[in-house]
Amino acid sequence: MDVDVVARVLSTLPEDDDHPYRTGPWRPQTTEWRADDLDVAGEIPADLDGVYLRNTENPVHPAIERYHPFDGDGMVHVIGFRDGRAFYRNRFIRTDGFLAEAEARKPLWAGLAERPSLSLRDGWGARGGLKDSSSTDVVVHAGVALTSFYQCGDLYRLDPLTLETLGKAEWHGDFPYACGVSAHTKVDPRTGELLFFNYGTDEPYMHYGVVSADDRLTHYVDVPLPGPRLPHDMAFTENYAILNDCPMFWDPELLKRGRHAARFHPDIPLRIGVIPRTGSKVQWFEAAPTYVLHWVNAYEEGDEIVLDGFFQEDPEPKDVGDGGHYQRMFRFLALDRMKTKLHRWRLNLKTGRCREERLTDSVTEFGVLNSRYGGVGYRYAYAATGVEGWFLFDGVTRHDLVTGEEETYKLPPNVYGSEPAMAPRLGSAAEDDGYLITLTTDMNDDRSECLIFDAARPADGPLARVRLPERVSSGTHATWAPGDSIPGWRTAESPERAVGLG
Ligand SMILES: [Fe+2]
Repeated sequence: MDVDVVARVLSTLPEDDDHPYRTGPWRPQTTEWRADDLDVAGEIPADLDGVYLRNTENPVHPAIERYHPFDGDGMVHVIGFRDGRAFYRNRFIRTDGFLAEAEARKPLWAGLAERPSLSLRDGWGARGGLKDSSSTDVVVHAGVALTSFYQCGDLYRLDPLTLETLGKAEWHGDFPYACGVSAHTKVDPRTGELLFFNYGTDEPYMHYGVVSADDRLTHYVDVPLPGPRLPHDMAFTENYAILNDCPMFWDPELLKRGRHAARFHPDIPLRIGVIPRTGSKVQWFEAAPTYVLHWVNAYEEGDEIVLDGFFQEDPEPKDVGDGGHYQRMFRFLALDRMKTKLHRWRLNLKTGRCREERLTDSVTEFGVLNSRYGGVGYRYAYAATGVEGWFLFDGVTRHDLVTGEEETYKLPPNVYGSEPAMAPRLGSAAEDDGYLITLTTDMNDDRSECLIFDAARPADGPLARVRLPERVSSGTHATWAPGDSIPGWRTAESPERAVGLG
């Protein structure tokens, strides 16, 4: 391995930190690395060609009073694969908030579990007063990695190879600065468009928009809702975008007093909104009450739209006294407590009715697919399994949505994974002809590896384990970008020399 330390970032976290989401598997990194020719156990397939990008919170300052796991600064990791070799980079996203706190050497914004009035400066986010750390999600659009924040904010533009922060999405001046953009923008592999939504506390409470393959805002419309809502994800088909109004939202009475307390309303249906991709009229469907954090995919079939996602059987888990203080406080992050199960909603555009069914009894979440099948009929979903009681992933499951069969690879005890990504093999034709990638945090051997599985047989275990220079913090959202979606990928001799995005 050819490795350099690029930078070290000053952390003001306490030496004796005891917060479980800032220690152990969630211990944040302060070092930024450049590593080429990574050491490998096994063999990196020569037809694995592109980059696995993973975002996630990586705090460098304590909270003003009370840290929430979603408050940390965004750090992106990239593991790139080309010609049977691998490279690694990690960088903090140089958000406005990150830079301001680096200068101040202390936290300046109140976090999710704190009163917004504690913020020392004006902030961002649907509820206001937060630091936009762009730490939630990452996609690649128009050759650039875009990071986003689940409470809405800017989209930060990163070079997908070096992870240098290139600035913010501007869309030639049309970026919706007043509301920002939510995490989970969607890239349509056929049109190259980026679909997005945002939400907030002012009417109409939601907007939906489209950005073209050449990075221009081509569509932006109001999506009126009954009040402020907390949508997290969206889906799309060839002709429609799919939005949602889940019955989990800030308590309206407390909101009037400036308090942001999310409550689940089991007597209010889930509403799923279908809007023509370039239209403005939303057709709403009612379904069984739940909160859906993540959808997997959607597609059109006759008069119906088929929509797959994770149904939470218990969106608001009760405190039953399990675990210590922090485990009880953050019980709603544990997949087993929410009982997240793959579910299918069928939305009939003619009758306006929704039929729905649970696809499995297994608890998985953070589902992905071969992105070439985004928005069209597909068969395979891959998702993470969760550690009981904690926000940690301990395996990956392959769901066959036609036969209902599933197979799971469980990581060894004390080894945690990230959201998987499916990387189609170079020249592949079949949907599951490719590789599954995840990034581990190994507490047994104090190291991190990028694992490569055969996507058709993940239970057989990894084909290769690629060693990173340092153990990285556990994390979540990731994406796969094929090499041919990155400018200069094939012609460059090294990842650094591939840079040159105009
Ligand atoms: Fe998410």
